[in-house]
Amino acid sequence: MNSYITIIATAAMGLESIVAQEVKRLGYSEVNVENGKVRFEADIQAVIRCNLWLRSADRVKILIGEFEATSYDELFEQTKSLPWGDYIPEDGEFPVIGKSVKSKLYSVPDCQSIVKKAIVEKLKKQHGIAQWLPETGSLYRVEVALHKNKVELTLDSSGSGLHKRGYRYQQGDAPLKETLAAALIQLTNWHPDQPFYDLFCGSGTIPIEAALIGQNIAPGFNRSFVSEEWEWVSSEAWERGLEEAEDLANYDQPLAIYGSDIRHEMVEASKTNAFEAGLGDLIQWKQMQASDFASDQSIGYIVSNPPYGERLGDKKKIEETYKQLGTVLRDYPGWSIYMLTANEQFESLFGQKATKKRKLFNGFIKTDYYQYFGKRI
Ligand SMILES: C[S@@+](CC[C@H](N)C(=O)[O-])C[C@H]1O[C@@H](n2cnc3c(N)ncnc32)[C@H](O)[C@@H]1O
Repeated sequence: MNSYITIIATAAMGLESIVAQEVKRLGYSEVNVENGKVRFEADIQAVIRCNLWLRSADRVKILIGEFEATSYDELFEQTKSLPWGDYIPEDGEFPVIGKSVKSKLYSVPDCQSIVKKAIVEKLKKQHGIAQWLPETGSLYRVEVALHKNKVELTLDSSGSGLHKRGYRYQQGDAPLKETLAAALIQLTNWHPDQPFYDLFCGSGTIPIEAALIGQNIAPGFNRSFVSEEWEWVSSEAWERGLEEAEDLANYDQPLAIYGSDIRHEMVEASKTNAFEAGLGDLIQWKQMQASDFASDQSIGYIVSNPPYGERLGDKKKIEETYKQLGTVLRDYPGWSIYMLTANEQFESLFGQKATKKRKLFNGFIKTDYYQYFGKRI
């Protein structure tokens, strides 16, 4: 097998450039940014490092092959020509999932079954077996993705999505994905020495992700990945990845991270989740109305995902909260404030035009990330 492989880190729409920066920070250059993904060439150690370290990516995949196909014959033959047996052992389990956009081969179930058959034939040939493949071993999830007749065949090395850090034991009604929370923080200029607040913390995702960033803790350190079970990825390589993560964590970095929520039970949920994340009592949690915010610090960061007020009765209430918040935070000109909301009236309610706005999706909800840069004082 080639020692260099093409790695694809998938990302939610709008987060691709953040994932690309993360990949570059891990030391990989020549990173191509595409819709919903970034791709780059590196060795297998990079797959391990990306799974452990990428904070805003959804999954890490390995590209097995790509080609044009407008007929099922072409799809079958070209899939079969790829070296599947180098990756998938005799007993490997390899479900095939698929998607097709603007392509002649639009039937996803048909594409999946053609790809499955082609891989079966190739594996039998490469491994020299005539009988049925047992599929009782480790998981090698194959994806066939067609876009404008271009086929991309990948293997998923992550397993469950990278947002599953393994710390979320409790959640509220509208939890933010951990990957998006990490992206929101990375879009600020916050430095771990500075105060950091989430005034609508819910189950604590934003403060927890801030603490992981602040102490340079690999977000995947406490979970497992399917590729840990892969035969051709050595356990030494995984050991190296985990040792590196342990070495780079800076547990001595002092933090001033605060999370508060109007609901007492959410504060308790945040505490549980922070504990599960291994952060102990590093974050300070409090039951509080957002507009009761007060600090004696002249600079700091507030990063929040307040309710959007989508239900009719809630709308008035949350709009009043936005107004009160705007009034209170006017007394903190040195603070930088970042709010993710779908409420298009946010700026007028808050009473100030944002320095910068960025369109982001929170799941399927179109939101804006309103960014107010603190004045230098
Ligand atoms: C969209 S959720 C935040 C979800 C959170 N980011 C997470 O990952 O779980 C909004 C939170 O704001 C809280 N909230 C609503 N009104 C509030 C207010 N006036 N002051 C403080 N918190 C409030 C709700 O209890 C809810 O937990």
